[in-house]
Amino acid sequence: MTDKIAYTRHDDIAVLRIQNPPVNALGVAVRRGLADAVDRAEADAGVRAVLIVGDGRAFIAGADISEFGKPPMSPNLPDLCNRIEASPLVVVASMHGVSLGGGLEVAMAAHYRIAQPGSRVGLPEVHLGLLPGAGGTQRLPRLIGVENAIEVITTGRHIQAAEALELGIIDKIEEGDPETVGLAYTKSLLAKDAPRRPISEMPGPDPIDWDATYAAILKKGRGQISPATAVRAIQAASELEFSKGMTRERELFMELMKTDQRKGLIHAFFGERAVSNLPELKGVEPRPLQSIGVIGGGTMGAGIATAALLAGFKVVLIEMKKEAADAAQDRISGNLSGALKRGKITQTQFDALTTTALEVSVNYDSLSDVDLVVEAVFEDMSVKKQVFAKLDAICKPGAILATNTSYLDINEIAASTTRPKDVIGLHFFSPAHVMKLLEVVVADQTALDVTATGFALGKALGKTSVRAGVCDGFIGNRILATYRTAADHMVLDGASPYQIDKALTDFGFAMGPYAVADLAGLDIGWATRKRKAPERHPDERVPTYIDRLCEQGHFGQKTGQGYYIYEKGKRGGVPNPEITRLIEAEQQALGITPQSFTDAQIVRRYMCAMVNEGARVLEEGIAARPLDIDMTLLFGYGFPRYWGGPMKWADIQGLPQVLADIEEYACEDAWFWRPAPLLRDLIAKGQDFEHMNKEAAT
Ligand code: 3HC
Ligand code: NAI
Repeated sequence: MTDKIAYTRHDDIAVLRIQNPPVNALGVAVRRGLADAVDRAEADAGVRAVLIVGDGRAFIAGADISEFGKPPMSPNLPDLCNRIEASPLVVVASMHGVSLGGGLEVAMAAHYRIAQPGSRVGLPEVHLGLLPGAGGTQRLPRLIGVENAIEVITTGRHIQAAEALELGIIDKIEEGDPETVGLAYTKSLLAKDAPRRPISEMPGPDPIDWDATYAAILKKGRGQISPATAVRAIQAASELEFSKGMTRERELFMELMKTDQRKGLIHAFFGERAVSNLPELKGVEPRPLQSIGVIGGGTMGAGIATAALLAGFKVVLIEMKKEAADAAQDRISGNLSGALKRGKITQTQFDALTTTALEVSVNYDSLSDVDLVVEAVFEDMSVKKQVFAKLDAICKPGAILATNTSYLDINEIAASTTRPKDVIGLHFFSPAHVMKLLEVVVADQTALDVTATGFALGKALGKTSVRAGVCDGFIGNRILATYRTAADHMVLDGASPYQIDKALTDFGFAMGPYAVADLAGLDIGWATRKRKAPERHPDERVPTYIDRLCEQGHFGQKTGQGYYIYEKGKRGGVPNPEITRLIEAEQQALGITPQSFTDAQIVRRYMCAMVNEGARVLEEGIAARPLDIDMTLLFGYGFPRYWGGPMKWADIQGLPQVLADIEEYACEDAWFWRPAPLLRDLIAKGQDFEHMNKEAAT
């Protein structure tokens, strides 16, 4: 028996305690240990029952995800579950914390399940591009019926103990030490001679319209295949006897294991955990944070204030004038009433958050005692410098001065204070109380504990924080500018904005770039083009047709017209014929003969532009690791999670092919498509971006 399982005897009950911190993942040593421990219990004279418990904070969080993609090691999890279920002893699972994936499958292999009130269960495998592969698709429908099983498995959601009891996933809820309550429950079962109760012996679930269900779930998955594939496995539970159903589940599980989606989703799982784990911050204590100042109560300031209030901070928001302060207060109340409607906060909390926890003022002196200030005023260097000079004069020593600027040079902003070490960028995304991404932008002189505090704030606000360096647009907006340019070039050359949006939503993006532009406001891009015009390289191709639309006062959704025309009360828009006319006029003026692009060609160019700029961002140290870019795009830009991010996408395609494509595009536009030297370096060394992630972790 391995040291991952502690075996103890309590009268006629053998207790198997899983000890594999932090979350008792079912790695090979745990699987072997459990199989051996069941053998031992069966050979242990007088033992009538087995109680399985988990040590530490969870019963079992599932299969060990880090083993996926590696050669299988015996015993495999389905065999282990079948072995546990087949035991002649009565087997009980006492669950606390989470029992997820293989963890719930082990529990369902037991004959009875008792759980702590605060515990959660679920089969989240679809989120890793897989399906429950240790009998979950065969046992759960037998236990709770086909409709419920489909919902639980295809959403992968976590289910609270009370609901699990109602559904019939668990048999009893009892508060207390899991081993103590588990032993009492097992004793009570033995006392009444409760029989073994293998789920595999229960009848299979009733049939439903499998093809229609498969099609509906496939559509809902927006290109993700694992939930729909899980439906086919559940179908096998209905149509085949248990052992054949298990074989079918295994086949489908192994099919999914080989997919790129599985690789992308598992990269995302580890990436979102690694992203805030920075080697330079090891052992660095963040500064204490209780109160947050926000300067500017427009779109962003109000959103940031809302996020901070919801996370329990005291907030002081500063506006320029009384009317603007009132408008800010209204915006925040509007945001919070959304949270109230969704049941995230109670009316009492709403009242407290909009009154005692929040101070809206026109007087900067109110900031004298805050721990951290986020400036979210107009995107104008001279305004920001004035604000920072005021903050420098008013804020207490040690207070962190942060800017939410999208593009401006944070070193220059920091230099306008006498404490540049305390200055940092905290780049939120709109709406700031909803979007998950926070770019923590570290300037030349930012102190380490200030960076650590940026990450601590991100965590407190429930954000995924990514470290970025200072440059025009940091990680996300800089890469966005490049792939938007690639799309704009395709429009000039003959692809319509509507074909591009469709090709990219089919690829899995939440929205296409032109629908996004309409949402963000076309005036922003217009202003940026005008700002950058003086320094523009003569070889740079910049479309001007969209400026004509802006000149007519059309800025996208907010004015009702942009790339699309929007009707009040209707979701989404319809293509704007004026855009097509303006594009054709520009093509004629430039002497361009429009060419046709396939959807695959569009996606390829768009993605290559993203990867090439990502490689430059890495070369310049703006992002420390490829995974930082991947997580930025995933959490801030609607990139499909099942591709793992652009750098993971590039690894999956193979870097030599990506470089070959870029070189081919360079034949048409050598200025835009200059291959990043990092790409060539990695290829020459036979490495890829994952290699860089691994090197950074050691
Ligand atoms: N395998 C390997 N490592 C795991 C793991 C797993 N199943 N679950 C969590 N971990 C690791 C995390 O990577 C993290 O490692 P780190 O400290 O080195 O970054 C550590 O355990 C702690 O995890 P979190 O930081 O996520 O801790 P939380 O308390 O926030 O969350 C959790 C705990 C809810 C268990 C969350 O980690 C989680 O959702 N885990 C994945 C659960 C899952 O998807 N299970 C299904 C696995 S697939 C399967 O079982 C296939 C089977 O059907 C055959
Ligand atoms: P906004 O125009 O909606 O709000 C700016 C607010 O700042 C206004 O209410 C204005 O009254 C106030 N203000 C201006 N000068 C001030 C001063 N000296 N003192 C106090 N208040 C002052 O602008 P928005 O969109 O909220 O942007 C703010 C900042 O956030 C900008 O730097 C922008 O680049 C950045 N940002 C914007 C995003 C967006 O999607 N809108 C996303 C991420 C960052």
